[in-house]
Amino acid sequence: MAKRFGSRPTADEVLEDIDLSGKTILVTGSGAGIGREAARALAAAGAHVILGCRTESSAEATVRAIEAACPCASLTPMALDLASFASIRRAVAALSVSRLDVLICNAGLHTPEFQTTEDGIELTVGVCHFGHFLLTLSLLERLRAAANARVVMVSSESHRFPRELRFDRFPLDEKRYQGLVAYGQAKLCNVLFANELTRRYASEGITANSLHPGSMIGTSIFRSSPAGKALAIALSPFTKTIAQGAATTVYCAAAPELAGVGGRYFSDCKEKRPSAFARDEAAAKKLWEMSEALVGRGP
Ligand SMILES: NC(=O)c1ccc[n+]([C@@H]2O[C@H](COP(=O)([O-])OP(=O)(O)OC[C@H]3O[C@@H](n4cnc5c(N)ncnc54)[C@H](OP(=O)(O)O)[C@@H]3O)[C@@H](O)[C@H]2O)c1
Repeated sequence: MAKRFGSRPTADEVLEDIDLSGKTILVTGSGAGIGREAARALAAAGAHVILGCRTESSAEATVRAIEAACPCASLTPMALDLASFASIRRAVAALSVSRLDVLICNAGLHTPEFQTTEDGIELTVGVCHFGHFLLTLSLLERLRAAANARVVMVSSESHRFPRELRFDRFPLDEKRYQGLVAYGQAKLCNVLFANELTRRYASEGITANSLHPGSMIGTSIFRSSPAGKALAIALSPFTKTIAQGAATTVYCAAAPELAGVGGRYFSDCKEKRPSAFARDEAAAKKLWEMSEALVGRGP
């Protein structure tokens, strides 16, 4: 029977009694915040964890930090800059594992200023959606090699704003850029992508879910927004800790009752209904086709 949790369990509490020995899990953006805590907790539960971090030095520093907390952890550092298609292709080509049980697409950012990826795409959706799209497609063979592989998309309740993805304004250009709109678009793409991935690959044993980790958790996501940072500090007594913020991520990655389950959205380790647009199958298909055209099929 599925275990029941209150609204704020920690990642370790969710993984209590779950043995992940023999599983290989890749976590993007695992150098900080929710990603690092999820990676630590999954490694402590016995998984071999590949730490996808923007730079090699951050990946190695993350290995040292997790090993200090969990000396038996089995970890592989991976330099993975999701703002560069070339870096994603290099990282996948260098990956020595032939089977991946879980891919956690956690990396994300929020920036008030317009910036672009190495490939000229608006940075927020470039990293959160297009980078993860290319990474996932490039890893399909390894995911197929696992029984009931899971892809976990760390989205946000911000996917509800904007109410729809206007393809004529996506990705945003510099003239129309608003940081919160770009962030909302990116998080909406995470839900649409998880749903479409499940529709396309569930028959091959790959399913994907998306999730909201909690709001205004005191990570570095607000680092380039002084107002956001101040609000996160002010609200911190009332919001989840990072350990609690990583709980729904590890729940989607490891809960036995979610084996073979996909196309769902979770919050507080429970299923929740995402926005109407996030459930729109035609939009998800359109986003997939557009993304495929933009990134190609990977290496
Ligand atoms: N904190 C919240 O309240 C909250 C709420 C809802 C959803 N979320 C989502 O939770 C996820 C984790 O965020 P967080 O709060 O833990 O923030 P965080 O501490 O800033 O962590 C974000 C991670 O993403 C990485 N990243 C950013 N750009 C990257 C790139 N180009 N290539 C590879 N990695 C990159 C960062 O690496 P660097 O440090 O090297 O930049 C960092 O490790 C995000 O997807 C975010 O949207 C957070």
